Amino acid sequence: MYSEKVMEHYMMPRNAWHMPEADGVGCVYSGECGDKFTMFIRVCGDIIRDVSFLASGCGAAIAAGSLTTMLARGKTIKEALKITEEDVIRALGGLPAAKQHCSDLSVSALQTAIMDYLAKQQREIKEFFEN
Ligand code: FES
Ligand code: FES
Repeated sequence: MYSEKVMEHYMMPRNAWHMPEADGVGCVYSGECGDKFTMFIRVCGDIIRDVSFLASGCGAAIAAGSLTTMLARGKTIKEALKITEEDVIRALGGLPAAKQHCSDLSVSALQTAIMDYLAKQQREIKEFFEN
């Protein structure tokens, strides 16, 4: 039921590790399945230099986390905030309908990690949506 891409990233997830000195951490729980997902970012000059994740979830969540880190790495904060669940699902070669919420988790965790980074910098997210 999973695409080849999902299976590849589930079996061999990229960037699945705990980052002890992250600049931003985002931890989210799924309301649908109760699974937990954490994303870590290191930022320099408003560019995401490093990103990693930990997931206690299904294969689709692990594959989505892997792809989300690949999409986010090297992006500016502004670009990373534009990554959507649809982008991740497309990169995964599609997800079964019952598994669509699994990709929401990784994108929400990334956004939460960015919010955490901005809060620590005492900056507001709205500056990234102006012009
Ligand atoms: Fe900025 Fe390493 S100090 S990327
Ligand atoms: Fe919980 Fe996929 S079923 S993250």
